[in-house]
Amino acid sequence: MRNKFITGSCILISLIHLAHAQEPLQPLPEKVPLNADKVSLGARLFHDQRLSGNNTIACSSCHNLSTGGTDHTAVSSGINGKQGEIRAPTVYNSAYNFRQFWNGRAATLQEQAQGPVTNPVEMGANWPDVIKKLKMDPGYVNAFKKIYHQNIDMNNIVDAIAEFERSLSTPSRFDDYLRGKTTAITPQEKHGYDLFKSYGCVACHNGVNIGGGMYQKMGVAKDYFKDRGLPVKPADLGVYQVSKLEKDKHVFKVPSLRNIALTAPYYHDGAAQTLDDAVFKMGKYQLGIEISEKDRQDIIAFLNSLTGKTLDTNKTASLSTQP
Ligand code: HEC
Ligand code: HEC
Repeated sequence: MRNKFITGSCILISLIHLAHAQEPLQPLPEKVPLNADKVSLGARLFHDQRLSGNNTIACSSCHNLSTGGTDHTAVSSGINGKQGEIRAPTVYNSAYNFRQFWNGRAATLQEQAQGPVTNPVEMGANWPDVIKKLKMDPGYVNAFKKIYHQNIDMNNIVDAIAEFERSLSTPSRFDDYLRGKTTAITPQEKHGYDLFKSYGCVACHNGVNIGGGMYQKMGVAKDYFKDRGLPVKPADLGVYQVSKLEKDKHVFKVPSLRNIALTAPYYHDGAAQTLDDAVFKMGKYQLGIEISEKDRQDIIAFLNSLTGKTLDTNKTASLSTQP
């Protein structure tokens, strides 16, 4: 009797595992192993304006953690109001992207974090000056000594920032659903998820980050840039900027859709103001179909279920529900 029960539940568990293995989306890990000292040092650095040339801009200036990890404009304003060329993506869950930046030019979070500090339109600093400023702060000197057993240098600064960014993992109700809690999402959200699969959104937005795992052209089914009207800028060229290969023109890292309800405007150019517009245009330019208003509503309901919370809200700012 007892054996039968055990065999039965084993089969059940195997079936649940099988069902999950076939899902194109996977849940975020329930626990992220992190060095707590590095996370709090990284959090401080992430919010520190001394990382900029004139002490006015921090990473958090453009990646506001209380508004979805982004700045809600088509192009960010950096040092002295200088404007960039591309929309700031969120830093939440960026640790799960296979590469960083829209065109994937940084392989790791550490490599990524070196970029903005010296970028003349972002933080406009240089590393020797930043390090000199941080060395004047005994709090930093002690923290770096304790964690890295040495003085402050660039590698350790970006290492701490990267560890902090790994703490910005935001599981949502949808992750509970993927783990087998069928009531975690509403019937409308479930239907939206079914549409997300049947329309083929999952061909590109898949895996743990529901995106962030591959490069794809913007405009697979129809020329997006011709219809957009605005002149094509270098940033619109995507991966081509890195590879100079013709086939990489307008190819971007597929963005993660986690917390997507919080991060308008959408696309690399910020040209889609609403989630409805972004989903409609995905149908048109990526799939060559017109998605009905009803189906868009259901897909958006599903996308709303991807709004999550950081694992340890004591250490990191939690996501607000309103951008
Ligand atoms: C002036 C605004 C600004 C500042 C300051 C800034 N960023 Fe960004 N960040 C951006 C923009 C814009 C992009 C996209 C650039 C691109 O893809 O070419 C970006 C991209 C990123 C990405 C890649 C995310 C992804 O999905 O590819 C990460 C991670 C990131 N920033 C972290 C940081 C960190 C860490 C700092 C501080 C050291 C920082 N940012 C400072 C605007 C900013
Ligand atoms: C062929 C690959 C592909 C398919 C299929 C696809 N997408 Fe996308 N999606 C992308 C790429 C690439 C981008 C970035 C485009 C850009 O920034 O110009 C994107 C961007 C988005 C965005 C905006 C994300 C942001 O942070 O700005 C949303 C929302 C979105 N897709 C939803 C969907 C939905 C819903 C479907 C199905 C109806 C879908 N996508 C189908 C590749 C795809």
